[in-house]
Amino acid sequence: MNSAPFRLAPLDATHDRTKFNSTSEPLDRYLREHVTQDVRRRVVACFVALAEGHRIAGYYTLASASLLLADLPASTGKKLPRYPTVPAVRMGRLAVDQGFRGQGLGGALLADALDRAARSEIAAYALMVDGKDEAAVAFYRHHGFIALPDSPLTLFLPLATALSARKTDNKAR
Ligand SMILES: CC(C)(COP(=O)(O)OP(=O)(O)OC[C@H]1O[C@@H](n2cnc3c(N)ncnc32)[C@H](O)[C@@H]1OP(=O)(O)O)[C@@H](O)C(=O)NCCC(=O)NCCS
Repeated sequence: MNSAPFRLAPLDATHDRTKFNSTSEPLDRYLREHVTQDVRRRVVACFVALAEGHRIAGYYTLASASLLLADLPASTGKKLPRYPTVPAVRMGRLAVDQGFRGQGLGGALLADALDRAARSEIAAYALMVDGKDEAAVAFYRHHGFIALPDSPLTLFLPLATALSARKTDNKAR
């Protein structure tokens, strides 16, 4: 991420959701109209990147989830216990306002989501995402996510892999 002064924080009522424009109407409408209710009902947590005070430059949501062991690539599944499901954290939505694209903010939000999932005391094997289209899938693959063999729009990244990549990056600095 560049030196742009983004501040990452849990969404709260002081943040301005009205101007957010990711060019994806469903993602914008969700932030404007639905997310606060979902947070209140504890079905998602929402984190935002703030620019210029309270203006939202990007956001993502997290919730607990599970992956079916049978849906994972065989090479991954064979290293896991033989339970039917594997615990995961789902990043249900990720969007960056078009005015803040290409500055590393999407990558920074993804790294923040991986950190939060990995730091939780509740174990999860992977962060999973549902890419809304080919461009989203390409973004996640660029960041090391692996597609499920039979559902290519659903991708996962083992949290152990993300943590060891982070350690290697930190050592290289
Ligand atoms: C996808 C999205 C979040 C990326 O945000 P961004 O702030 O422009 O991305 P960044 O500047 O952080 O890019 C980080 C890296 O990802 C790469 N990248 C960005 N978009 C990419 C894409 N569609 N395919 C492949 N790589 C991509 C960048 O080249 C950059 O690579 P680098 O770190 O090696 O230099 C943003 O384009 C967006 O909000 N799109 C609309 C909503 C969406 O598709 N959400 C995805 C989940 S459904």
